[in-house]
Amino acid sequence: MTSVKTIGRLSSNAWKSTTIFASRLRSHSLNQLRVASSAAVASESETVAAQQNYKIIQDTDNFDEIQAARPDFNHSAAIEVTKSPNPNWNYGDGAPNSLAQKHHEIDPYAQDRPMINNYRLLVSGIVPRPVGFLSTVNSKGEKNLSPFSYFQVIDHDPPMFIVGFSSRPGRVKDTYRNLKETGECVINTVSENMIEAVNATSIDAPYDVSEWDVSGLHEAPSSTVKPARVAESVFNIEGKVIDIKEFTDHQKPGMSLAATVLIKATRFWVKDGTSDADFSHIDLEKLRPIGQLGGMSYGRILSTFEHPRKRWSEEVSKSDTLSRLDARKCGDS
Ligand SMILES: Cc1cc2nc3c(=O)[nH]c(=O)nc-3n(C[C@H](O)[C@H](O)[C@H](O)COP(=O)(O)O)c2cc1C
Repeated sequence: MTSVKTIGRLSSNAWKSTTIFASRLRSHSLNQLRVASSAAVASESETVAAQQNYKIIQDTDNFDEIQAARPDFNHSAAIEVTKSPNPNWNYGDGAPNSLAQKHHEIDPYAQDRPMINNYRLLVSGIVPRPVGFLSTVNSKGEKNLSPFSYFQVIDHDPPMFIVGFSSRPGRVKDTYRNLKETGECVINTVSENMIEAVNATSIDAPYDVSEWDVSGLHEAPSSTVKPARVAESVFNIEGKVIDIKEFTDHQKPGMSLAATVLIKATRFWVKDGTSDADFSHIDLEKLRPIGQLGGMSYGRILSTFEHPRKRWSEEVSKSDTLSRLDARKCGDS
């Protein structure tokens, strides 16, 4: 097995963002990773220094004490459906009570701005984030299972997903390495009852340790890819890598490469009894999704509201604002 222990600073002429296309992935992926690792072996001291500055995992010395004082998780809490926040809203009304404060401008790349501040700002400000729970294998078939919340579905036609792999001291994320080696994965949804097991898979296990064993979650066979599906998940998406973007120009001494990966779905699996008859809608009561929030917080959905999307042709005659805009549009043409 190719061991990628440390991937550090690239030579200056290699400091260019790279896009790797799917057609080249299979034949070149392992070689490219080898090149990246051999051309960019960080010194032990750089990696150790990077490790000391890496504060992504929060210290939780007294967490058990804090947790003990909190109410129990209510497993049977119902999801209520309320009215929308401002049911009397009219076109042109904007958002109530949200203009009083000014904004503070931040340069994310400022010399004196620690990376951890950008991390904390982004994970607390872009919420809730769904957790993509990725099952992958390497070229030898060794398994990996890990959660990623820099994750989204980005289209349905074709069904496409994106996952962001952050840099860390030493080696690249094993999931990223596997995606690059084999180009395949299963994206699994995370329900409330799975979170402890899912979180356990985020441990920085050695490359050859399978997080399936760490979590106790169960494998179900896939049809179009080698990695297994998570049997406990309500929804599994088999997928293949379409594109990879590596941020080599941003790589720091002792830190691994950061990359984003574009994945195209090849098969869907929906658990029996969790959707409508034609498998076009998953029941929120059954999915019970969690969202990752800032710090080490997660959120659950216990209250929803509905708000229909509108058509211009049907709305214009009902609203002075839209009528005015419509008249201006006709005047311009
Ligand atoms: C809920 C959750 C979400 C996470 N999201 C990300 C993410 O989006 N990107 C990332 O690089 N790491 C993320 N992590 C951390 C990885 O899961 C962690 O580094 C893990 O060890 C990577 O596993 P691997 O090296 O086996 O791929 C997340 C962890 C948790 C618990």
